[in-house]
Amino acid sequence: MKAQEMRETFIKYLIERGHKEFPSASLLPDNDPSVLFTTAGMHPLVPYLLGERHPQGKRLVNAQKCLRTDDIDEVGDEFHHTYFEMLGNWSLGDYFKNESITMSFEFLTSVLSIPICKLAVTVFGGYEEIPKDTEVYECWKNVGLNESQIFYGGMKENWWGPAGKTGPCGPDTEIFYDTGKEPCGDDCSPLCDCGRFVEIWNNVFMQYNKDDEGHFIVLSQKNVDTGMSLERILAVYNHVSSNYGTDLFEPIIIRIEELTNIFRSKENIKSFRIIVDHLRAATFIIGDPKKVVPSNTEQGYIVRRLIRRSIRHLRKIGVINNILHDVINTIIEINSPVYPELKTNKEFILEQIEKEYTSFISTLDRGIKKAEHFFNNISDGGTLTGELAFRLFDTFGFPIEFTVELATEKGILVDIDGFNSKFLEHQEKSRSSAEGKFKGGLADNSVQTTKLHTATHLLNSALRQVLGDDVYQRGSNITPERLRFDFSFDRKLTNEELIKVSQIVNEAISKNIPVECNEMTVDEAKSLGAIGVFDQKYGETVKVYSIDGYSKEICGGPHTLNTGELGSFNILKEESSSSGVRRIKAIINY
Ligand code: ALA
Repeated sequence: MKAQEMRETFIKYLIERGHKEFPSASLLPDNDPSVLFTTAGMHPLVPYLLGERHPQGKRLVNAQKCLRTDDIDEVGDEFHHTYFEMLGNWSLGDYFKNESITMSFEFLTSVLSIPICKLAVTVFGGYEEIPKDTEVYECWKNVGLNESQIFYGGMKENWWGPAGKTGPCGPDTEIFYDTGKEPCGDDCSPLCDCGRFVEIWNNVFMQYNKDDEGHFIVLSQKNVDTGMSLERILAVYNHVSSNYGTDLFEPIIIRIEELTNIFRSKENIKSFRIIVDHLRAATFIIGDPKKVVPSNTEQGYIVRRLIRRSIRHLRKIGVINNILHDVINTIIEINSPVYPELKTNKEFILEQIEKEYTSFISTLDRGIKKAEHFFNNISDGGTLTGELAFRLFDTFGFPIEFTVELATEKGILVDIDGFNSKFLEHQEKSRSSAEGKFKGGLADNSVQTTKLHTATHLLNSALRQVLGDDVYQRGSNITPERLRFDFSFDRKLTNEELIKVSQIVNEAISKNIPVECNEMTVDEAKSLGAIGVFDQKYGETVKVYSIDGYSKEICGGPHTLNTGELGSFNILKEESSSSGVRRIKAIINY
């Protein structure tokens, strides 16, 4: 079976059981300062998991683009990736444990005909005041699993979320496939990580909300959040021993072999996998509807790391020529039927990757020689100083993780703290804060961020009034302290213009205008003149927030009920964000 058929089979199965399909959101979460990327299908659903009504109902299904950098060191084995697609189904206060397990089981064993004996599951075994999930254990027995296939795990194995510090979370049950590899011992089970069992699906029972103080508060709405890796289920279904053997990757590997006459072998397979995984991820990040450019901060830094690491592994397997253009084209060809933004942004993707290649390749070889020179002066088990690691970064463009990888191959440690303090001395924005964010959580829906969301709509409309209707939103990022708004415009704004924009926003605030929310189809929204990021895919129905006389915008919310709740609006800074895009930072004083 090919990937597209697997997506369709999954979605059709759930639609037949009352679910509504909604499109994949951007890889870059909306208005969410605490994460760099969408790491699970549930990210765009957080408000609905906490009780807000979803316009498409209580049963949802989709395939979501996801990116996780915490698995980056695992990439190269059979089953791990940075970018991947998550097939998920959700119950927002509708069905719960029994129905969710019954459906997952039926899909795997009846629709995909995976033999029951190849499955094993883990179930939440209890933690402090939260009891062991005997209900789920019984559900698995009732659908037909043997007790020898069911294992209780702890908080680490069988509790999922919140994705950040606070938010929806709960016990889960993970479904594994037995690859048939030799057991690692008598206790071999899905709870060990010997590689015999591969996790294919996770069903999370989101019945708690973790609050600021770390308490688990029982949610009145009991939700189900599931996620299955498309790459893994496809490999399992097709009986290929690795995700890289599926049609999502195989044509890319073949293309590299054709272009270089260098072929996969036991020695270089890890590098091949790193190359295709990282280039695929870079293509999706750069080509996202929100477009990302390689840089030294936030998402741009991750994409830079991915490209540079893949270039190094190309060198490692012996590729001297620049083959990226052809490889990226193959990646776009495979994925654009489902993710048309890759085709739309094809030139942009190719241009950015070429640029990054050119700037890195010119220093790569000299940098590696320099690194080797540094390593030669350190004995095994010794440490490269932060200062030298920083020199490799500053002079040769080596991301710290890259230097760590080179050093590890020689049995040498790197003083990362030392590097970070050097880095902070030299850079206004620290990369480590970007990394910290990645590990952080989802945006809160606090009063302050809600006010700033509404202020963003007023700002968007004021900018269009002052600068013209060619101004479009290009991005937005909100923390409880401030809003950041990127928009298309090709020069610095004058002071007069900035003052005018602030005045319009403050005038709207002083008028105490109600913020109205209506649900409608995208076409209806467009015909009413609502603005929105239309190159982003929307579901069947959307929410349109209107502020009479000022703004009509497609948006997921949350918003205040009235502009009068906002307080006084102040622009702190206006600067260039990237070519043709300006950035405004603003606050609200209460
Ligand atoms: N949100 C759950 C996960 O990512 C399904 O595993």
